[in-house]
Amino acid sequence: MNWPANRMRNDNPLKLGIFSPNCSGGMAVTTVPERWDPSWDNNAALAVMADGYGIEFLLPIARWRGYGGETNFQGTTLETMTWCAGLLALTKGITVFCTAHTSFHHPLVAAKMLSTVDQISHGRLGLNVVCGWNQPEYEMMGKDLPDSHDDRYDYGQEWLDVIEKVWTSDAEFAAGHGVYPLVGDPDHIASELERVHRAGFDGTTISFVDYLAELPYFAEEVIPRLEAKGLRSPVPSA
Ligand SMILES: Cc1cc2nc3c(=O)[nH]c(=O)nc-3n(C[C@H](O)[C@H](O)[C@H](O)COP(=O)(O)O)c2cc1C
Repeated sequence: MNWPANRMRNDNPLKLGIFSPNCSGGMAVTTVPERWDPSWDNNAALAVMADGYGIEFLLPIARWRGYGGETNFQGTTLETMTWCAGLLALTKGITVFCTAHTSFHHPLVAAKMLSTVDQISHGRLGLNVVCGWNQPEYEMMGKDLPDSHDDRYDYGQEWLDVIEKVWTSDAEFAAGHGVYPLVGDPDHIASELERVHRAGFDGTTISFVDYLAELPYFAEEVIPRLEAKGLRSPVPSA
């Protein structure tokens, strides 16, 4: 397929973008009457205009609650995955980013959403990955914001690795427990299941995509590896 070039890869040494048009106030904390109203119609008009002017990109902010106070800065926002899907359908050359919080977007869901929007955009989608800082938003989502900065970014890396694997791996199924889906070849799945078992997780689940097609594969490829590790006994013959 002959897809148009992503404008972020053009020859302009200085790239120009518009930040935060999906949020009320944009980036200006102000009460002036003309402050930015992030309605869909305003965003659509801005995107088409920026596209026509050769601006390279639009970058949204993923914000889940406003800052309160007199301005309630960013108190009204459009959700960024759906926002970028709509704008990419309306435009021709501009790159439009979405912004994903690693803790709020399950990586398998994000991988699917991103690949869907990639098709809508013909290669013009950008991804801004956010590893967390805003405690009230995490509380609101029922998520823990790790105290350690390194832990947040380790989790972010794992989140990205899963997405990349889903996009590139030939694995026949993805398996998961808790927040970490397991993806990979049978050796990897078996060793991850062993790791989960040793860590003492209860209620470990494996997510098959097609039960009928994938259970035999799992039984033939992964279970023998679990037997070899002493985690399961061979099924007695009838
Ligand atoms: C260009 C850019 C976009 C960002 N977008 C968001 C966002 O949409 N939502 C958010 O909560 N934080 C956003 N951040 C904040 C970052 O995720 C990060 O918390 C911040 O850069 C501080 O870095 P640190 O968390 O490593 O200390 C953005 C930062 C930058 C520089």
